[in-house]
Amino acid sequence: MSHITESTIKKITAPQIRARKGGAPIIALTAYDYPTARIVDEAGFDFILVGDSLAQTVLGYDSTLPVTLDEMIAATRAVKRGVRRALIVGDMPFGYYQDSAEHGVASAIRFVKEGGAEAVKIEGGARRAHIIRAIVESEIPVMGHIGLTPQSLLKMGGYRVQGKTLEAARELIEDAIALEGAGAFAVVLEGIPKEISRIITERISIPTIGIGAGVDCDGQILVFTDLVGLTFGHTAKFVRQYMDVKNLMAEALKQYAGDVTARRFPADEESYSLPEGTIVTIEEEHSQSMPPLGPIN
Ligand code: KIV
Repeated sequence: MSHITESTIKKITAPQIRARKGGAPIIALTAYDYPTARIVDEAGFDFILVGDSLAQTVLGYDSTLPVTLDEMIAATRAVKRGVRRALIVGDMPFGYYQDSAEHGVASAIRFVKEGGAEAVKIEGGARRAHIIRAIVESEIPVMGHIGLTPQSLLKMGGYRVQGKTLEAARELIEDAIALEGAGAFAVVLEGIPKEISRIITERISIPTIGIGAGVDCDGQILVFTDLVGLTFGHTAKFVRQYMDVKNLMAEALKQYAGDVTARRFPADEESYSLPEGTIVTIEEEHSQSMPPLGPIN
């Protein structure tokens, strides 16, 4: 990751991410709003996923299933305003592509036209290949996502590591190959044994982006709130929390409340003043027109 200056900013494209296969690791993170998108972009990340994890991290739902395409598009527009360089990938929410390729294409087009996404991500393996192909044929780059796919929560019966049996491992490898064949430019591998990720990464010609999939992927992604410590409740084993923003925020709020209570805030330098002559006049006028203070009934 290099420091970005005004003169070196050049937008990253899906084909450029695709071309990074086997090269320097691709660095990615989720973002859901203008300030976090700016911070992630200015830190030099390669792509930003406006993840449907928005449902839990920002909107307070208990899974990704309820989030709507309108909510995802609104978040993507905010992210777009904060990004100069990173590729912006919109995460297709549950219920907006599973039923047909036509629905998938229409949803992806909305993401691009209304949200400003530059690619979309779709969960699921071989059985989603026809949808991916149709979206790619509509000129929109698609990132695949296999393994622990949170939109399959009801079917999986919980968030469980996938691909642990021989049969499941073979199926994952077939899924990755199917996504590559359908024209995906990269594929997220989530919550699978690192040995399977390595095999998939060696086997396919598009980059693999790991999250809970070991170190051998072509890139890594995490959820922004997990990384900075702003997630409430359980975080997965694969999360590395680099700071404790939640506690830093709580401490700042406590200090502010204490300053207000003790009248330490605002200080003189945080307040506006009248010019000297005006103060004297207004104070005189005020004292003449005010009745003496009495008890308030
Ligand atoms: O929604 C999300 O955050 C994701 C992950 C891959 C990070 O899909």
